[in-house]
Amino acid sequence: MKSSTAKASAHPNIALIKYWGNSDDALRLPANDSLSITLGALTTTTTVTYDAALKSDQFTLNHVVQTDPDTARVSAHLDLIRHLAHEQRRAHVESVNSFPAGAGIASSASGFAALTVAACAAAGLTLDSTALSRLARRGSGSAARSMLGGFVQLHAGSDDALCFAEQLADIHHWPLRDLIVVSDRSHKLTGSTGGHHSAPSSPLQAARVSDAARRIRVCREAIQERDFHKLAAIAELDSNLMHAIMFTSTPPLLYWNATTIHAMQAVTDLRSKGYEVLYTVDAGPNVHCICSPSDEETVLKVLQNLPGVKDVLQSGVGGPPRVL
Ligand code: PMV
Repeated sequence: MKSSTAKASAHPNIALIKYWGNSDDALRLPANDSLSITLGALTTTTTVTYDAALKSDQFTLNHVVQTDPDTARVSAHLDLIRHLAHEQRRAHVESVNSFPAGAGIASSASGFAALTVAACAAAGLTLDSTALSRLARRGSGSAARSMLGGFVQLHAGSDDALCFAEQLADIHHWPLRDLIVVSDRSHKLTGSTGGHHSAPSSPLQAARVSDAARRIRVCREAIQERDFHKLAAIAELDSNLMHAIMFTSTPPLLYWNATTIHAMQAVTDLRSKGYEVLYTVDAGPNVHCICSPSDEETVLKVLQNLPGVKDVLQSGVGGPPRVL
């Protein structure tokens, strides 16, 4: 066969308990378990076409041809799938995001999840969601969680087989909303791969990692009980801990801008007035404000009026990737 193609879509996710730092960089085994919500309104759609006439893999993102190191990272991921599927051909990869890339909205999560599903489907490789999550993890740790919908835990595991994502609760369990305060659409200067690498240089990382199992347990309970205030306390602590590692790594990393702080303070203020809203910040300046549907309109108005806010994206809980 000269060419074979498949198209898949996947959603990003926002971690309430985050991982930062790997125990194995090559296998992307995270230093601690993490727990996220899949975000249904945001999507990466990726088409993979294996083509016998191609000499090397070609990668376009949002219709722009990409060069190394991004193409090399996609190519290395395709190599894992080609190896499993006994596929020799190089591929065209066309990926389109419905949201800004590289600004802490986990485009690598939906990107590597969609790439994994499309590349396996085009190669005729059928894998279950556990095996797909292990594979997606090799491209980006958080992509393992985007292999499932709803509320998802990534088990850190001590080897490749033990490190996979598991669904804790489905898309209908708790209809939380995520309002993402966008204050900067540019690509971040230090990506998470570099950040994971420097995490152990922080004298605080060992304490953050050793308390992670407790945070996971409390977060799981909060989700099971749909206890918003318990969720807010543990998710904000976890986000603050990760940024404390970033600030105190060598070299130090500071992803926040003034609007990040305005948004975090606005969320704290709204919660003190009784609204159900919490903040969590990934490796970027944009702030994810998770809230109850009944408080969404009030929270949205407050966030839209903060200085420096360019946009507020809105999402509910989403499902797993789909082959289109
Ligand atoms: O999947 P990566 O390598 O982009 O790392 C993700 C790191 C955070 O988004 C900051 C935290 C997380 O657990 O999603």
